[in-house]
Amino acid sequence: MASRPVRIVPSILSADFSRLGEEVEAADAAGGDWIHVDVMDGHFVPNLTVGPLVVEAIRPLTEKPLDVHLMIAPADPFIEAFAKAGADHITIHPEAGPHLDRSLEMIRGLGKKAGVAIDPASPVSLIADVLDRLDLVLIMSVNPGFGGQQFIPQALEKLRQADRLIGERPIELEVDGGISEANAGQIAAAGGNVFVAGSAVFAGNDPKTYADRIEALRHAASADQ
Ligand code: DX5
Ligand code: ZN
Repeated sequence: MASRPVRIVPSILSADFSRLGEEVEAADAAGGDWIHVDVMDGHFVPNLTVGPLVVEAIRPLTEKPLDVHLMIAPADPFIEAFAKAGADHITIHPEAGPHLDRSLEMIRGLGKKAGVAIDPASPVSLIADVLDRLDLVLIMSVNPGFGGQQFIPQALEKLRQADRLIGERPIELEVDGGISEANAGQIAAAGGNVFVAGSAVFAGNDPKTYADRIEALRHAASADQ
């Protein structure tokens, strides 16, 4: 297994949107390594969230990478807008367009890190022919669309498969959905190094709790290796 640093990445989907800026600053100050932004369009996934305007609005509030997860189809027409808004990483789902290789080339061409997200029912092998265009692989451990869902354990086998495909390439292996202290150790043992956490960080929306929660996730992710 390649050795990749553990990163705990708060997902603002579970933030209090009436004070979104403060929530981003609090997640940064509490030790979040990146800030995860879930973009949903109401037809690729059954929920609607935010667009480039919101990415642009939070951009000045943190120096941490903005990890933008596009759950939209088509994605290509919006990639440049998210890049210009200040996204550092742009992750797309292969089902969101006909030419994954071209979409990834577009993201890197804009100077951003490119990611592919693999849904629970999608094979990890979808990344096999684009590995050299990738900076990040995201294994979905819930069906995309909502925070607060239960972790799907089959994600662990998918992480092992992705880890084998990645080999020694400098590609981050991210997991998204239902992550908690209870499963972070297993996820790390299966090769995951980037832990997206929405409710595990933001539930209750009390900024005083975020640092302890992030630290607990980091500890659990580092323990079982
Ligand atoms: C779900 C999103 C996730 C979501 C995870 O479609 O991609 O990033 O915020 O939320 P939790 O950690 O609550 O499962
Ligand atoms: Zn996400």
